[in-house]
Amino acid sequence: MEVVITDHPEQVMADIIAGAVRGGARTLGLATGSSPLPTYRELIRRHNDDGLSFAGVNAVLLDEYVGLPPTHPESYARFIRDNFTNHVDLGDVYSPDGMAPDSSAAADAYDARIAEVGPVDVQILGIGSNGHIGFNEPSSSLTSRTRIKTLTAKTREDNARFFDDDLSQVPMHVITQGLGTISDAKHLALVATGAGKAEAVAAAVEGPLTASCPASILQWHRRATVVVDPAAASKLTAADYYRYVYANKPR
Ligand code: GLP
Repeated sequence: MEVVITDHPEQVMADIIAGAVRGGARTLGLATGSSPLPTYRELIRRHNDDGLSFAGVNAVLLDEYVGLPPTHPESYARFIRDNFTNHVDLGDVYSPDGMAPDSSAAADAYDARIAEVGPVDVQILGIGSNGHIGFNEPSSSLTSRTRIKTLTAKTREDNARFFDDDLSQVPMHVITQGLGTISDAKHLALVATGAGKAEAVAAAVEGPLTASCPASILQWHRRATVVVDPAAASKLTAADYYRYVYANKPR
């Protein structure tokens, strides 16, 4: 696992994605939430100013709220279109069907779809303050596949800010790629910023590999990069070592 501590996480993340796309990546894994937004803005800028093209590249989303139609402003399908995919020349964008009458069947179908269009070359990830990735809350099976999950009270509170601070509007259930599904990606790139993520980042990077911190599966992945700003890195005990390794990375 590579840990990159930088004042410009969006540049490092955009370099990873752009490098993969230029190297022939066919499928990107996209995350929602506020953490990857600067990365998406930077990729859009590179598309407009530097000729970065996503032609022939498809994308899969990590997760979706159950009960929100893709037209709802807070549905992840809409979020990713508004904030990224509508602004570049990406091909198809797939996401779980949060409106399906049978969420479990929709989850199975989505897992099969990922297997069809995958493997995902680079999966972008954020991290929840409780260590979740996608919507895999603590206690998620480390080999889980896409399925319906119930959000923790903490995650619903964290996400209420997107729903006019009205907790009652935050859906209780979601469909999320499982930790096993996410792990099928060739490269996992997690971005986290701000002191509010410091504890979760430290648990993911330096704590035990445990379902109690779903992001700790990055430790078990053959290629994982954690890109953090100094505030999000502030609880990493080996921060100096990560800085030293990155500064001396063979180019
Ligand atoms: C949501 C998403 C995650 C995201 C997390 C953190 O729960 N399902 O994919 O990583 O929130 O969001 P933020 O980046 O806004 O802190």
